[in-house]
Amino acid sequence: MKFFIDTANIKDIESAYKIGVLSGVTTNPSLVAKEGVKFEDRIAEILQLVPEVESVSAEVTPDAETAEEMIAQANELIKINNHDDKITIKLPMTLAGLEACRYLSRKGVKTNVTLIFTVNQALLAARAGATYVSPFLGRLDDISEDGVLLVDKIAQLFRTHGLDTQIIAASVRHPDHVTRVAMAGAHIATVPFSVIAQLTKHPLTDQGLEKFAADWQKSIK
Ligand code: E4P
Repeated sequence: MKFFIDTANIKDIESAYKIGVLSGVTTNPSLVAKEGVKFEDRIAEILQLVPEVESVSAEVTPDAETAEEMIAQANELIKINNHDDKITIKLPMTLAGLEACRYLSRKGVKTNVTLIFTVNQALLAARAGATYVSPFLGRLDDISEDGVLLVDKIAQLFRTHGLDTQIIAASVRHPDHVTRVAMAGAHIATVPFSVIAQLTKHPLTDQGLEKFAADWQKSIK
């Protein structure tokens, strides 16, 4: 399973990129709004910052309701990336989003269909040609449904039907989500930097480091 970072924050993207685990970046309108910057400018900045990743997801804005409006926005976003295929157009799971997905994927543009909460939604997106689908597990857990189980079922379905759409486990809230979606067959987990940092932690690692430091101090006296 690969790691994407789920943020529009430059410092967090830099921190994850320099430890060498980053294969992509996902953003959404809420994450960009939190940064208080112009959407296109931030996407351009991110694209420059992470030259070696496979994908940077930029979501069409919520005022694009028709497929034509989404495609028009996608064409502007593609220009920011000099028509490089790293830019990935994130589309909502709606009829219009699927129509835009079909059109863009036939043009060779990467797409990420977002706000996936059922297996059927994932199947539709895959059949419309999506490069990625993003099931939101944390938000399902929030309403007492099992988000990891959804990822598990989508992975099973894609294997059964030979669909090559990649699953991005999204709305990941803690390290246990990461372990469980990796085992369930997600191709990618998109996670906030705080979760990446948590993944490095274990109390015995901390204890071990303290003991090494204490013993080292003794030995150099
Ligand atoms: C994924 O692409 C979404 O941006 C994200 O994971 C949503 O996470 P949230 O439910 O924590 O907002």
